[in-house]
Amino acid sequence: MAKIDFKTLKIEAQKAVKEAKDLKELDTVYRKYLGKKGELTLILRSLKYLPEKERKKQGKLANQLKKEISSLIEGESKSIEKKGFSFAKATEDKLDVTVPGEKPILGHLHPLTLVKRKTEEVFQAMGFSVIEGPEIENEWYNFDALNIPKDHPARDVWDTLWIKTEEKPLLLRTHTSPVQIRYMEKNNPPLRIIVPGRIFRHEATDASHEINFYQLEGLMLGKEIATANFKAIIKEFFSRFFEKEVKIRLRPSYFPFTEPSFEVDMSCLVCGGKGCKVCSGTGWVELMGAGMVHPNVLKAAGVNPKNWQGFAFGIGMDRLAMMKYKINNIRLFYSGDLRFLQQF
Ligand code: PHE
Repeated sequence: MAKIDFKTLKIEAQKAVKEAKDLKELDTVYRKYLGKKGELTLILRSLKYLPEKERKKQGKLANQLKKEISSLIEGESKSIEKKGFSFAKATEDKLDVTVPGEKPILGHLHPLTLVKRKTEEVFQAMGFSVIEGPEIENEWYNFDALNIPKDHPARDVWDTLWIKTEEKPLLLRTHTSPVQIRYMEKNNPPLRIIVPGRIFRHEATDASHEINFYQLEGLMLGKEIATANFKAIIKEFFSRFFEKEVKIRLRPSYFPFTEPSFEVDMSCLVCGGKGCKVCSGTGWVELMGAGMVHPNVLKAAGVNPKNWQGFAFGIGMDRLAMMKYKINNIRLFYSGDLRFLQQF
């Protein structure tokens, strides 16, 4: 057997241990010298072929080197582990308390909720109470009591989603006007209410039509409430809601539950009145229907039309939101698209 060069082996091993950059590399070094097939292991195993005297001598040296290498590796592995938490590393990752914080992602209100709250705030400041009513209605409240008899062609204006039932048919309310009746049945005039709520229409959708959307009904009854009061209140509402003067116009119109009836348009804020998809190129957007409450409606709700009169209106809240935030497609409100919603 050739002479074993413990010296060189030791130098080599020391070098390898030093060069190991991480625990994995150190493990490779360990295996190279001390593993099952490691250089030193093989030497120790081959000692048995030596004559006794020589074996003892070489054995002592080999075992000593084994101890040295393994304590070297152990020491190195501790120092590599420590380096993970070394001062240099610690200051590199240190927490700089002066850096501005990262904003946590918070939920926020839907644009339609913002608009609903703002309209409620403005009307409440003018003495209106906020009332709610059911989304599932019957024909009486949605149509008959509002002076829209069965088989009257006016019913076709409100494309209705019907609910099949065993008894009397039910429907998804096509407007918030039925709440006028429900409220007048239980409350005596004079009164001032607004009714925000979801409504449903069996319609084809486009940039300004949805099958469900939001309306804000208004009703004001008194002894001498007239169209002039309506105009004043609506104008005040618009300027408070949009926080600026906006141009509006009243057009004669027809609703079975009001007489006279009109529609209120405002100049399109999306295009500034030049004409766009939202205003169908006209520069005006229809925001609400309104009129003086028809005597038949008062009668149906148990109010005497000889003593009381007033106005009612129904604002499309989605349209209001579109004008307020300059949104050109109503369907965005219901898309659930975060790229859209996160802008509010
Ligand atoms: N209910 C009507 C609609 O949905 C709006 C309206 C309400 C018109 C009150 C006049 C008075 O179109």
